[in-house]
Parts: sequence; structure tokens; C-alpha cells
Amino acid sequence: MTHTPGGTTPPGSVSDQAMLYGRAYTAPGVIVSYDAARCIHARVCVQGLPQVFDVSARPWIQPQHAPALEVQAVVHRCPSGALHVLLDGAAPEQPDVPTRITPYPDGPLGIRGDLRIVTPAGEVQDVRATLCRCGQSSNKPYCDGTHTRVGWKE
Ligand code: SF4
Ligand code: FES
Repeated sequence: MTHTPGGTTPPGSVSDQAMLYGRAYTAPGVIVSYDAARCIHARVCVQGLPQVFDVSARPWIQPQHAPALEVQAVVHRCPSGALHVLLDGAAPEQPDVPTRITPYPDGPLGIRGDLRIVTPAGEVQDVRATLCRCGQSSNKPYCDGTHTRVGWKE
């Protein structure tokens, strides 16, 4: 199931088939979406482009503060899939081939590839995800960061 984000209406030239989940943050030519329930607080975004991803600002994502290609590059490094991006006129993010699965020390399984994830709400298409390995996430099959709060080790 492919969702479009709530909030701001995407420009008409952007494909509605894009993988955009959660809330949308727009700037001319670019849409960033953020699904808070999937964020594992890896901080790739806030360290990669602090002028765009600033948790002390409102809204906390302001894509207009950097070139769209730089925003895209940082979003594609978000391991959890909490962040997605679509540039005006560009194809949606392409999956890694082959699919790669990486267990994070004391944390989730990171997966990159052409994914179909079965969730309680239905099947979700994605190219990045972090899946719960500790068994204590409230958003299974996704990791929700609980492993850190409970000090899970493996
Ligand atoms: S999981 Fe993604 S959205 Fe969350 S802090 Fe890390 S890079 Fe940012
Ligand atoms: S591995 Fe992160 S909540 Fe289970």
C-alpha cells in the first residue's frame, strides 16, 4: 500500500506513486516526508544537514535551506525509512540491488532493497527500513527506538 503524506498538497507534477509516508514538508521542487513512528534517532539527518533538519526549529524540517540534491542525498542515507524525498520531475528513489540486510549492534535489522513490508495496516512498499530485533517495539515490524530506552543488548 502506498500512502501520500498528510498536510501540504504536493505539486501536480510530482508522481503520486512516490514512497512518501507520514507528514510532508515542501519547498519549491522538493517534498520531504517524515514518519515519526519509524525514526530510530540515528541522527544521520540532523548531522548531515543541520540547516534543514533542526529539532529546535518549527517546522523541524525546512528543505528550502539547502539545494534539493543535497537534501535528497541526506534523506537517502536515513536508515529507517522515516524520511523520504521526491524532487520535482525526478523518478522515485530506486532500491539497492541486491537487497542488503545488516544487523545493527544492540539494535534493529537494517534493510535496503526492493521491499514489501507486511504491517498491521497492510503491505507497504519501501527501499529502506529498520526492523525490530528486540521484540519490544510498539510499531512492529519496524523498530521504534525502544531497544535504546530499555538497554537491549545482543
Ligand atoms: S532515523 Fe532517519 S529521520 Fe530518524 S534521526 Fe535517523 S536519519 Fe533522521
Ligand atoms: S530493535 Fe529497536 S525497538 Fe526492537
